[in-house]
Amino acid sequence: MRAVAVAEFGATPVLTDLPRPDPGPGEVLVKLVAAGLNPIDWKVADGLLKDAVEHSFPLILGSDGAGVVEAVGADVTAFRPGDQVYGSFQDVSRGLGSYAEFAVAPADGTLAAMPEGMIYSQAAAVPTASMTAWNAVRIAGADEGRTLLILGATGGVGQSAVQLGARNGARVIATARPDTTEEMRKLGASETVDYTGGGLGERVRALVPDGLDAVLDLVGSKAQLDEIVPLMRPGGTIVSTAHALNTDALEAQELRGVNMQNEASGDLLRTLADLIDAGELTIRIDEEVSLRDAPAALARNKAGGARGKTVIRL
Ligand SMILES: NC(=O)c1ccc[n+]([C@@H]2O[C@H](COP(=O)([O-])OP(=O)(O)OC[C@H]3O[C@@H](n4cnc5c(N)ncnc54)[C@H](OP(=O)(O)O)[C@@H]3O)[C@@H](O)[C@H]2O)c1
Repeated sequence: MRAVAVAEFGATPVLTDLPRPDPGPGEVLVKLVAAGLNPIDWKVADGLLKDAVEHSFPLILGSDGAGVVEAVGADVTAFRPGDQVYGSFQDVSRGLGSYAEFAVAPADGTLAAMPEGMIYSQAAAVPTASMTAWNAVRIAGADEGRTLLILGATGGVGQSAVQLGARNGARVIATARPDTTEEMRKLGASETVDYTGGGLGERVRALVPDGLDAVLDLVGSKAQLDEIVPLMRPGGTIVSTAHALNTDALEAQELRGVNMQNEASGDLLRTLADLIDAGELTIRIDEEVSLRDAPAALARNKAGGARGKTVIRL
């Protein structure tokens, strides 16, 4: 099967031909139609998890995907061949991922049936980014009457977090370059702040002289955090998906810091699908590329400037 993989940590991802995986007991083999691109994909290729988990090479990149069940392993009753499904497909210990024509996932893992009306490219764009956004907004306690600042609001996680925070009734302030201001407002941001050109802290302070209740850091810039943390109210929560927080130092300032690791599940995928179906969550696709162009799309994502999600068509 065709797949995009790396031969070793730090190698350039290439389109290659690899054996189709077999579903083991409890696993589902899916013929993917679309894969979703996330920054973690190039981070894994660069060796982010090399000391934490065993990897096999060639290592197929990618976690998120959507497609049709091709076969199921022993003991699988929840899915049947022909079912349309989406979810997380990465198993680095076996060198398997979603940038491939076929991928496997545990039936009781992060896999769900695609709701009627959901298209493959949209389904593939949901898992990592929107589940992370959901969990981050929940941990931040961004509820009715609270003020939430999102740093890095224009990317995959950010676009969902803006909508989910606003849906909870929070006042959402989104960092955005001028070209994305209107889009952020449409998604539910009350205000946007241009983070370029310096003075981010002053601009946020002008908007919220009484302080921020919660911050989502989706960027990991220490310089930005140094400007923003002093604007938080005592008892406030800051969540970083980039693991950029010194939680002890924050605690000493009466703030709660959470370096968040996403917790994925089939149930959460179903919750998000219901929101999408109800029109309460929109997934903006920034670009769709072929598998051949996936390495170039990964390089573009690494360079920054994401405007929603990138989807790879298989
Ligand atoms: N810990 C976890 O479990 C977990 C889960 C999911 C994601 N993550 C991490 O969370 C981060 C965001 O993920 P994502 O999928 O949303 O990434 P993404 O789609 O690539 O989006 C990143 C966004 O941040 C913006 N940005 C870059 N530098 C910025 C800055 N200094 N200030 C404000 N905005 C800035 C980018 O636009 P511009 O460059 O135009 O500003 C882009 O829109 C990544 O580091 C990812 O690895 C972690």
